[in-house]
Amino acid sequence: MPPFSGQKLDTIPAHVPPELVYEYDSTKDPRMLEDPHARMRSLILEAPPIFFSPHNGGHWFVTRKQAIVDITMNPEVYSNALFGASEAHGGEHEAPKPAFMMLPIAVDPPQHTAYRAPLNQPLAAKSVAGLETAIRTMTNELIDKVLDAGRCDFLSDIAEPLPVTLFMKLAGMPTNRLAEFRELATQATSAAVDHATREGIFKQIAGILAESIKARQEKREDDLISRLLDANIQGRNPTFPEMLGYSITLFLGGLDTVVNALSFGVRHLARDQELQAKLRADPSLLPGAIEELLRLYGVACTPRRVTRDVVCHGVNLKQGDALLLLLPAANYDDAAFPNPEQFIMGRTEQHMTFNTGPHRCVGLNLARLEMKVFYQEWLKRVPPFRLDPQAPPRFTGGFNLAVTSLPLVWD
Ligand code: HEM
Repeated sequence: MPPFSGQKLDTIPAHVPPELVYEYDSTKDPRMLEDPHARMRSLILEAPPIFFSPHNGGHWFVTRKQAIVDITMNPEVYSNALFGASEAHGGEHEAPKPAFMMLPIAVDPPQHTAYRAPLNQPLAAKSVAGLETAIRTMTNELIDKVLDAGRCDFLSDIAEPLPVTLFMKLAGMPTNRLAEFRELATQATSAAVDHATREGIFKQIAGILAESIKARQEKREDDLISRLLDANIQGRNPTFPEMLGYSITLFLGGLDTVVNALSFGVRHLARDQELQAKLRADPSLLPGAIEELLRLYGVACTPRRVTRDVVCHGVNLKQGDALLLLLPAANYDDAAFPNPEQFIMGRTEQHMTFNTGPHRCVGLNLARLEMKVFYQEWLKRVPPFRLDPQAPPRFTGGFNLAVTSLPLVWD
């Protein structure tokens, strides 16, 4: 049975000792759905550091920072080659059926280095700084729509539209298709959509991205797709399927992740009036606060495939075994973060939300900028806000930890 397939294994593989079996269904676990990060902490406290769960086709989970670092730094043994179009960042648990190669995430070093290089410069902190004004304008337009109402569903009103609109700008997509594309993006990342529908949505998204690529093949503009078309991959330009692979990865990578990182962060502030007031009074504290919110509320988990039999932190893994690296759990690992459940400004340890190693998030500068500008504007304009006492937030599980609804109120 393929890992991440949605079905439960009838028998545990022979090489998995009973003491390492821990029943955890990341899509349906009730404690996960009640509070995803409290569940991550409980996995640190209750489950073996590397455990096998028979759910979703049967696979390993890794929860500790050092083990995840060791795995990520050894791509020869722990490969990313199992990433498919429907898997990466998508929160989807179906077997991979890639129509194209997701770039650069599905490729292992040394080839990965060549595919990653064209993204490094356009997404460097200096380059994305040019988007700051656009992010500020988009944020304010979204705030304008909800401010007077004294309430909003933060997820659908703010967190979802912001990164989609930004992606369209970054990728040079026509803004007259904004509403249509935003709807497709929301459905593509929604937990409520079934697999067949999602496949159809991905085809439509790929179709729109393909049109943008073709348009830029005809005429270059000042955008990422144009830059990538002229990129040099070991002496040649990317092919059309490679361009599609880059575009889809950037689209998926920059959407669901930012939506949920923003939503969990805002939920934290809605429950911590003191911190809200502190950040309003001194916005220069924001970058530090954002880093600690990113640690507390990691959102992406990432898979690896074992390429040969190996012993990992005392656990026998077999060639072909699938692992899910629970980055949000690693942020609650006491061995790496003292008092991990507390919000502590100015921690020096590197959190795992963007992972580490060769695939460490290439969009992290953009993600941080989006969050900084968003919090600056939101805290400046929106009065002290809190969770709607009539409608508590709702969450969902899967590959990624996600918010499905976040009603807020203010006076
Ligand atoms: C808070 C927001 C974000 C989080 C939590 C996040 C998380 C991650 C993580 C954990 C990885 C590593 C996956 C692995 O090790 O297999 C990754 C890779 C990646 N991310 Fe992000 N990401 C975020 C925002 C973004 C944005 C805004 C973009 C687009 C500009 C983006 C594009 C990518 C790409 C292209 C990769 C693949 C890098 C490679 O394979 O070398 N991400 N991200």
